[in-house]
Amino acid sequence: MKKPWSGRFKHKTSEKVEAFTESISFDKRLWKYDITGSIAHAKMLSKQGIISQKDSAAIVKGLMEIAENINSGKFGFRKELEDIHMNIESALSEKIGQAGKKLHTARSRNDQVSLDLRLYLKEETEEIISIINTLQKTFLEISERHMDAIMPGYTHLQRAQPVLLSHHFLAYVEMLQRDRNRFEDSVKRIDVLPLGSCAISGTTLPIDRTYTAKALGFKAISGNSIDAVSDRDFAIEFLSCSSITMMHLSRLAEELILWSTEEFRFIEISDEFTTGSSIMPQKKNPDVAELIRGKTGRVYGNLISLLTIMKGLPLSYNRDLQEDKLPVFDTVDTLKACLEIMTEMLPGIKFRTERMRTSAGEAYSTATDIAEYLVKKDVPFREAHEITGKIVLYCIEKDITLQSLELEKLKAFSPVISKDIFSVLDPAESVKARSTYGGTSPSEVRRQIKRYKKILK
Ligand code: ARG
Repeated sequence: MKKPWSGRFKHKTSEKVEAFTESISFDKRLWKYDITGSIAHAKMLSKQGIISQKDSAAIVKGLMEIAENINSGKFGFRKELEDIHMNIESALSEKIGQAGKKLHTARSRNDQVSLDLRLYLKEETEEIISIINTLQKTFLEISERHMDAIMPGYTHLQRAQPVLLSHHFLAYVEMLQRDRNRFEDSVKRIDVLPLGSCAISGTTLPIDRTYTAKALGFKAISGNSIDAVSDRDFAIEFLSCSSITMMHLSRLAEELILWSTEEFRFIEISDEFTTGSSIMPQKKNPDVAELIRGKTGRVYGNLISLLTIMKGLPLSYNRDLQEDKLPVFDTVDTLKACLEIMTEMLPGIKFRTERMRTSAGEAYSTATDIAEYLVKKDVPFREAHEITGKIVLYCIEKDITLQSLELEKLKAFSPVISKDIFSVLDPAESVKARSTYGGTSPSEVRRQIKRYKKILK
């Protein structure tokens, strides 16, 4: 197979080098975008009178046939043609002859590969945003279904204060909303046409980049050809947004793993989403959640890969950049799979709300409520904290709960305490009273559910 650069060479590329330098084994995934880009490019070339209408029409027709071939799995990808760009171009020339050889006018693989990756990431990012949206809605549904469920809220993984289970889940809706906003914002920087930058400095031919940008639906056109062929910020940004989303999924996965332990017993993950042990018959393992947590490492690794590939690269295009694709593809696949399986696993989780509620009432979790009760009776907060600490210590030493203290005993700690204190000791009352904006009271949680229902169409 003749190489497009064969004019300058006396000897053939060694087979080892062909195998080492090829990217077709993975960049064939970009075929659709490569063809879309080429069709827009060919139309622009003829509109500008750089190639004839007839040649342009033959190119477009040929490319559409190639697309059909690839789509139906009939296309033979060849390693000796290195990458997706040369595979398609070579097939075109085989199909339509001389006209096919005109497609690469005023274009280089350097701007072409950036174009393909941008078209690909734009589409995938939109899809990821929509999957995040579905996951957020799933959280809203579960939250609405469990408005009565009270659980212990944790700091330092020590029981801190009672919260609504819904409030806890809405925390993930917030995280996912930021993730989504980050992805949405990143599209601005993906959505820039690099084509027309050619190898590095533009072209002497009278191309019309505005036309191509419009044809391909790009909002902006790159303003510096050197930057355009060497920039992969948009891909790094995608990997970065993905890493943050994976970090959120991993925290959720970790909580589901913890909550499903015998030690917590807060939830039971359904059989479909758990696996057994080949040796211990009693086991039910949260493998899906564990794998989501584990795959987070891979996605972080992909981000670090590309950052490291780019570090110290002189301008402009360098072949190192070919190594951008594997981490990007792997991240797209991993993130989508994790978001999807999490979305499917959540609705089947059984919440042991009785157990959660009992746990929420233990460990003196309403101590802060006593302190704030005292504040309302004009005790300075620092003193209130001290008094409450003494009450808790007394209970710990006697091994009794706050609720079982007698009023007379309580009064001994502070004369302002009266029998209305008992209502603040109840976890449900404690939750209900936290009605500040963004707090855990049912009214506030309902407000947030309503707000998100409007945001998430
Ligand atoms: N396969 C290459 C890549 O992925 C395409 C660009 C090649 N350009 C070049 N000048 N060798 O980056």
